[in-house]
Parts: sequence; C-alpha cells; structure tokens
Amino acid sequence: MSNELNNKTAIVTGASSGIGTAIAKELTKAGANVVLAARNKEKLENLVTEIGEKDKIICVQTDVTKQQDVDFLAERAREAFGSIDVYVNNAGKMGSSRVLEGEVSDWDQMIDINIKGVLYGIHSVLPAMLERKSGHIVNIASDSGFEVIERLTVYCATKFAVRAISTGLEKELANTGVRATNISPGMVETPLSSKSPFESDRKKLDPADIAKAVIYAVTQPDHVNVNEITVRPV
Ligand SMILES: NC(=O)c1ccc[n+]([C@@H]2O[C@H](COP(=O)([O-])OP(=O)(O)OC[C@H]3O[C@@H](n4cnc5c(N)ncnc54)[C@H](OP(=O)(O)O)[C@@H]3O)[C@@H](O)[C@H]2O)c1
Repeated sequence: MSNELNNKTAIVTGASSGIGTAIAKELTKAGANVVLAARNKEKLENLVTEIGEKDKIICVQTDVTKQQDVDFLAERAREAFGSIDVYVNNAGKMGSSRVLEGEVSDWDQMIDINIKGVLYGIHSVLPAMLERKSGHIVNIASDSGFEVIERLTVYCATKFAVRAISTGLEKELANTGVRATNISPGMVETPLSSKSPFESDRKKLDPADIAKAVIYAVTQPDHVNVNEITVRPV
C-alpha cells in the first residue's frame, strides 16, 4: 500500500455514492485520514465499515446546501485529525430537462448543491489553509463545464461555474502555498450518469479512474499545482 498521504487529512463530499466513494477509498489507500460527508448517514457508516480502518475514517452527515452543516463538517474534521490538507468538493446533482420546461426547484437544487455547496466548502477550510500556507482544494466539475448538452443546460451552467471558481481561485492563491485543482470527468458509471440524456457509444469510465486523477493532483511536489484534469473514456 502506498503511503504518500500519511498524516494528511482529506474531506470528501458526496462520499456516499459513485465517484465520491471511489475518491474516499483511494485516499485511504494512499494513507490519508478521510472524513466522509453526504446526507445519507447509513451509506457513509457502511462505507466506514467496508474500508475498515476505523481510526483513520469518520463520517459526518452533511447537507452541502447548508453553510452551518459545511462549517460543522470542517470543525469535526479538525477535532478528529487536526488540520485539513485536502478538501474534495465532489457532491453534485444532475437534473435533466429543457429550460422551457421550467423545472425551477430542480434548478434551485443544482445551483445550491453544485455551486453554493462548493463555495461553502472552500470558505470552511481556506482561511486555515492560508494561515498554514498549505492545503489543496479539489473541485469535481465535469466535461459539461466545457460544452453545453441539450436538456442539461442548467447542469452545464453549474459546471461552467465550478470551473470558473477553480480558475479564479488558482489565480487568487498564487504564492500562498495553497493549491486548487479542477477535475472534469466525462461519463462515469454511477447512479448520476444513468439519468443522463447524453448518448455515447463509449464505455463509461469507472469511478476509480477519477479517484486516481485526484490522487495524482494531491501527491505532486509542493511547488506544483495541477490546475485542470479532463478525463474522458476512450
Ligand atoms: N457520473 C458522471 O458521469 C459524472 C461526470 C462528470 C462529473 N460528475 C460529477 O461528479 C460528482 C459525483 O457524481 P457521481 O456521478 O458520483 O454521482 P452520484 O453517484 O449520484 O453521487 C452524488 C453524491 O452527491 C451527494 N450529494 C447530493 N446532494 C448533496 C447534498 N445536498 N449534500 C451533500 N451531499 C450531496 C450524494 O449523497 P447523498 O444523497 O447521501 O447526500 C452522493 O454521494 C458530481 O459533482 C457530478 O456532477 C459526474
């Protein structure tokens, strides 16, 4: 087992399913203490049991649309493991409809989870990272942050926003020692992608493929910031 992330602590939002679960597993394999966050507590607890290393993993029931939940998540992580080295903003929702259909509550949820949730996450850990001159924010965006797909206009808009936040953050963080990485997956085999209207003859990626991109980004030497990783199926 690799130990590149020994004594490091990572928070993963949306850890109860798909890509987030895979990221949590890879971070644990790499030796990190991992804090799992999502709304479904039972799934998080089952994941802790599955991974096994109970002294190195905790779960915190978190709704990323609620700033007080996200602040509490960071607080619990610090109580359990000390400072936070990596924050993976992975929680996300994809609703599929035409703008004309006016699915306003779906738009609100996507904006709250995919954009505001990401900002709350950054806000909860960034001041302490800046003080320590060390830390890494990883945002899971999407290839929908580069190209708009019909029936996914609002989802794509939220992912363009995530990419804008990552890009702006990278500029703001120059010379601070804190890093920001945007990871843009193509289609990955998860419950989310099973609802996508986008049709492709390519075999979907495995969630572990994205988790490995996260590990690549967060294990670079301190002076290297991997800004953007796009991962699509062949
Ligand atoms: N799958 C793909 O093809 C693909 C491609 C590009 C990008 N992505 C992005 O990758 C990320 C993960 O997606 P996935 O495919 O793994 O989806 P998924 O299997 O549906 O998992 C989504 C995760 O987000 C969590 N979540 C949703 N709303 C939340 C909230 N309000 N608070 C906290 N957690 C919340 C869910 O947990 P709870 O329900 O327990 O809260 C779940 O753990 C998303 O940002 C997605 O946009 C996915």
